[in-house]
Amino acid sequence: MTILGIETSCDETASAICKDGKIISSVISQQIIHSTYGGVVPELASREHEILLNRVVYKTIEEAKIELSSLDAISVTQGPGLNGTLLTGISFAKGLGLGLGIPVIPVNHLEGHIFSNFIADPSLKFPFVCLLVSGGHTQLWFIEHFENYTLLGETRDDAAGEAFDKGARILGLGYPGGPAIEKASSGGDPSKIKFPRSLLGKNNLEFSFSGLKTSLLYYVDSLTELQNETKKDITASYQQAIIDVLVEKLRRAINYTKTETCVIAGGVASNRVLRKCLTETLIGKSIVFPELKFCTDNGAMISYLGELKLKSNKYSSLSFSAKPNLKL
Ligand code: KG4
Ligand code: ZN
Repeated sequence: MTILGIETSCDETASAICKDGKIISSVISQQIIHSTYGGVVPELASREHEILLNRVVYKTIEEAKIELSSLDAISVTQGPGLNGTLLTGISFAKGLGLGLGIPVIPVNHLEGHIFSNFIADPSLKFPFVCLLVSGGHTQLWFIEHFENYTLLGETRDDAAGEAFDKGARILGLGYPGGPAIEKASSGGDPSKIKFPRSLLGKNNLEFSFSGLKTSLLYYVDSLTELQNETKKDITASYQQAIIDVLVEKLRRAINYTKTETCVIAGGVASNRVLRKCLTETLIGKSIVFPELKFCTDNGAMISYLGELKLKSNKYSSLSFSAKPNLKL
């Protein structure tokens, strides 16, 4: 089966082709327009998708060396995400699907992130625990089987990616904050400043990052000037405070569910320090990370999941619409 996946939930215009479980092409265009504003401007993002979608999809088809007529279905992100940007992708997918006379399958973006791990490791077996860490979500899931998922815990306030983005803004590092903080922290001392680690009480599987962000703000305000050397240590310490909590909560979730395998998903999964800390802590467990290019938003995860949904006949008619608050 050959599926075209389209992703426009936020500021990446992306599409990919999945053929019999393998990604044969993937194009991601990150909208740079938002960096000037320090965050995603929803209206601008929708307009950019409108401009970029046709080109991105055309390139994806070209790179896959297939004809449009060989597509069996189109899958598209239904939510969660920004209403306007989701609608842009859905309208495009429906138009193309109608024209080609093939099904259009709505896909949950979060489920897509989780399943991006099967692209990295096709031998991945159920059940497993997933730490889903993106710009909008920080959740721990027990993934028993395809479409059988239990939420073990999530953040009470900011998501981990949001903590990176807001921290970067406080430090004047630009957007997106995660890669900027990771880069700026290189060579810094992660134990220099004692930032808080929240909700570490016994058995707690929830997260909270808003206190950490406030604590960074107060710390930076207390300095007379922010020198580069100091900045290295601040970013390294701030990043470590986020990572310590993520690692500890995942460790607990694995113990609680008595699972041997865990996967990481979402944009924050591309953080190399997080990957290193997880590998060093979860000794004896099998840990799967998505490929770096498939951690942040991409069309590959949407096309991969689209194929699974098509195979299981789990798709609706063209009457579906965007669901900005779609839950898993
Ligand atoms: O999954 P994603 O692309 O979009 C959402 O679904 O939200 O995740 C984006 C988030 C942003 O908050 C970004 O700062 C963060 O992932 N991120 C990172 C890194 N790369 C992206 N956070 C930490 N370290 C990184 N290297
Ligand atoms: Zn995402």
